[in-house]
Amino acid sequence: MSPKPRVFSGIQPSGMLHLGNYLGAIQQWVAGQGEKTNFICIVDLHAITVPQDPAALRRQTRELAALLIAAGIDPQQTTLFVQSHVRAHAECCWILNCVTPLGWLERMTQYKMKAQKQESVLAGLLDYPVLQAADILLYDTHEVPVGEDQKQHIELTRDIAQRFNYLYGETFVVPEPVIRETGARIMALNDPTAKMSKSDFTRGHAIRITDEPDEIRWVVKRAVTDPGRDITFSDDPTRAGVNNLLQIYELATGLSRSAIEAHFMGKGYGALKNDVAEAVIEVLRPIRERYYHLIDDPAELDRILVIGAEQARAVAEPKVRLVMERVGFVLAT
Ligand code: AMP
Ligand code: TRP
Repeated sequence: MSPKPRVFSGIQPSGMLHLGNYLGAIQQWVAGQGEKTNFICIVDLHAITVPQDPAALRRQTRELAALLIAAGIDPQQTTLFVQSHVRAHAECCWILNCVTPLGWLERMTQYKMKAQKQESVLAGLLDYPVLQAADILLYDTHEVPVGEDQKQHIELTRDIAQRFNYLYGETFVVPEPVIRETGARIMALNDPTAKMSKSDFTRGHAIRITDEPDEIRWVVKRAVTDPGRDITFSDDPTRAGVNNLLQIYELATGLSRSAIEAHFMGKGYGALKNDVAEAVIEVLRPIRERYYHLIDDPAELDRILVIGAEQARAVAEPKVRLVMERVGFVLAT
């Protein structure tokens, strides 16, 4: 029997999760549990590449752990852990920094976008994708399930792995990004030309995973559509709003596109919004309920994270030792 493929993904504890995170990433992570060996990492080292309030970061790290478990990540089947609990990530990042040309990092679109928003850009922000490469490569990862926005970072990870292997001999597995066709880029409800994002707090922009049904109805009812009337999937940028609602409906119900188009045939945008809101409410309801239950018991959450970190260390520590040996360090015992 061939060993199960290894899956690694990460998520930042930098604010309440939204529907884009759930449909673009977390739903895939949950679906792959069991058949694959899964590692899910709460990336607090990445979060501090832009300024964070320490108390808020600590709270958001526990909230994210609770949300992931509430959304179906089962700590018995998936190694769920916090990045800073496993020192190998920072250690491996340093070594990879020393094989990564600066030009590769300066080209990253996410860096350029984030840097524009900062008054003073921190060195860690430029280095962000190298830390991400360390995350992935330490676990001999085959598959990295992410949203579309992470594709460039996974390609950079492949380049770094190949360069290291070339310089120091076969060390790293070269991973593949796994990006779903539907849901890879859930758009903002108030602006279907922009990606739904954690950092936009305008009411109507996003649906947060813990939003109450009335809030979800409010947001979906005001979602930007277009002056047309067809309710069909399309790539036409002028119909991005309706297409976004249909993708959300597809992922929330699990129905096929043809069944969905048949369902909405002859109906108006009011009906579409109503059905999308109700479908989202039903998907999020059990998650919200489990979340409030879990967040009430921080000691239990911390216990789960301690176990996750132990499991992660058992893989990452021998790997970083191998990396150190390859580059010529005298290994400390
Ligand atoms: P982040 O919110 O940047 O920590 O992203 C966590 C995961 O959610 C990553 O795999 C992202 O690619 C994914 N993601 C974030 N925003 C969206 C979105 N609007 N649509 C689909 N996936 C997303
Ligand atoms: N950069 C990713 C994001 O913002 C988070 C992340 C960090 C990640 N390390 C990772 C994703 C490793 C996949 C694999 O979404």
